[in-house]
This record gives sequence, C-alpha cells and structure tokens, in this order.
Amino acid sequence: MTIAIVGGTGPEGSGLALRFARSGEAVIIGSRDAQRAAESAAELNKQVDGGTGVPAGAISGAENRAACESAEIVILTVPFAAHAETLKHIKPALRPGQILVDTTVPLAASIGGRATRTLGVWQGSAAEEAAELVPDGVTAVAAFHNTSAEVLQGDSPVDCDVIVCSDDKEAAKRVRNLARKIPGVRTLDGGKLENARIVEQITALLIGFNIRHKGHSGLRITGLPPTAYEL
Ligand SMILES: NC(=O)c1ccc[n+]([C@@H]2O[C@H](COP(=O)([O-])OP(=O)(O)OC[C@H]3O[C@@H](n4cnc5c(N)ncnc54)[C@H](OP(=O)(O)O)[C@@H]3O)[C@@H](O)[C@H]2O)c1
Repeated sequence: MTIAIVGGTGPEGSGLALRFARSGEAVIIGSRDAQRAAESAAELNKQVDGGTGVPAGAISGAENRAACESAEIVILTVPFAAHAETLKHIKPALRPGQILVDTTVPLAASIGGRATRTLGVWQGSAAEEAAELVPDGVTAVAAFHNTSAEVLQGDSPVDCDVIVCSDDKEAAKRVRNLARKIPGVRTLDGGKLENARIVEQITALLIGFNIRHKGHSGLRITGLPPTAYEL
C-alpha cells in the first residue's frame, strides 16, 4: 500500500510516516516544497529500523499534490489554518477510490490563539469540512487526533487508542487496519464522520494535560469487550 502524508514534514506526519514505514508500507512525505519533502524523507529513512529490522528506503518525498497521485491512502497533517487551502490544492490529484484520512484538530493556536482551545468549524468538524472539499468518490475518514507526535516519533509502543470515524464502514476498517500496525495502538469504530467533532475536541484537553504535567498524553477507552477493538 502507498500512503501519502500531506504536510508530512511536520511532527505528526513524520511520526506516522516512521511507524507505517516500519510496518512495511511505502510512504510519500508531502510538502509545499519538494526539496523539503525529499530532505525530510531522507532523515526519516535513517530512523526507520528502530529495532524492527525493516530496511530503510520505504519513505520518499514529493510536493503535496504530486504525493497524492500514486497513493491509495492520503493522510492530511497540516495546521487547521492551512486545512481548506491544502485540500483545494491537492484536489486535482485525488481520484475515486482513495481514502482521505484527516488528523486535523481545529486548534485556536493555528490562528494565533491557545492550543488548549478549539475553533468553531462551520461544517461541524475539520473532518466534515474535508469531506466537503474532496472530489466525489473520495472517502473522508477521521483518525489519529489523539495520537501524540512525540510518541509516534519514538521507538516505544504507542500507548493510545485510535478512534476512527467515517460514514463509510469499509474505508474506516481499512484505516483501522493501518492504525493497528503501529505497536501498542488499539482502534475503535467511532461511528459516523460527524463524531469527529467530539474526537477533535478531546485533543485540546490532552494538550492542557501535557502543558500542566509536562507529558505526552494519549487516550485509552476502557470497559469494552476485546471484540470492540477487533475489525
Ligand atoms: N502534533 C501533534 O501531537 C498532533 C497530534 C494529533 C493531531 N495533530 C494534528 O496534525 C496536524 C499536523 O500537526 P503538526 O504538529 O505536525 O503541524 P505543523 O508542524 O504545524 O505542520 C505540519 C506541516 O504542515 C505544513 N504547513 C504548515 N503551514 C502551512 C500552510 N500555511 N499551508 C500549507 N502547509 C502548511 C508544513 O509543511 P511544509 O512547510 O513542508 O509544507 C508543516 O511541516 C494538525 O492539524 C494537528 O492538529 C497533531
């Protein structure tokens, strides 16, 4: 599977790239600048092994739109301020059958406010905005909002559940299947895409914990039978 990560030069995208490359996926780091993407990919390839024995070289770099062209799954990891503009930019490269995974949290920090506050989004959530901006036949899935970039960039298992929301059950399953390749991650079906409104908001709370306790908090949902985490 080829995964493009738009805005993949940032900490969240880089962390996901590293984890997916370690699980054997081909990853394309996207950037506004092809040179920056290539440099970021070269740096990440040096870290791919991480004790997994997976050979480096699985990560390449390209300008954002070009990165999307050959990908089955496109993961969007840009600040909310750049969300709509970036989606409009990559739109010509998106085609029916692709999955657009939105990780974006509409933090007030993206427009100069606090990282512990969120912005109101007209469509209800960043993910629902994405669903409006992708071409017909491209499925929006919301995931990874509560997964810390710092933890993803490390070598240890990721102590976090990934809640996946989408109006397309099959697309959600594919993204859960991908997320489960990250050691430590369990995934849950978060229901319809509109539930991304709730999942996105939780991140602002986690950031507050991180600031007060100097940590990298994640999320675990307890009290469910093991089948809840199965596909
Ligand atoms: N950081 C976390 O722990 C975390 C956790 C969960 C979810 N998220 C979400 O993941 C997304 C990315 O987070 P991040 O911390 O990696 O963000 P970031 O470092 O601020 O930005 C990621 C990348 O987006 C591109 N970018 C920045 N400004 C842009 C603009 N105006 N237009 C187009 N592209 C722009 C940059 O890539 P180029 O300059 O190379 O184009 C940058 O490297 C955010 O929406 C965040 O809410 C983050």
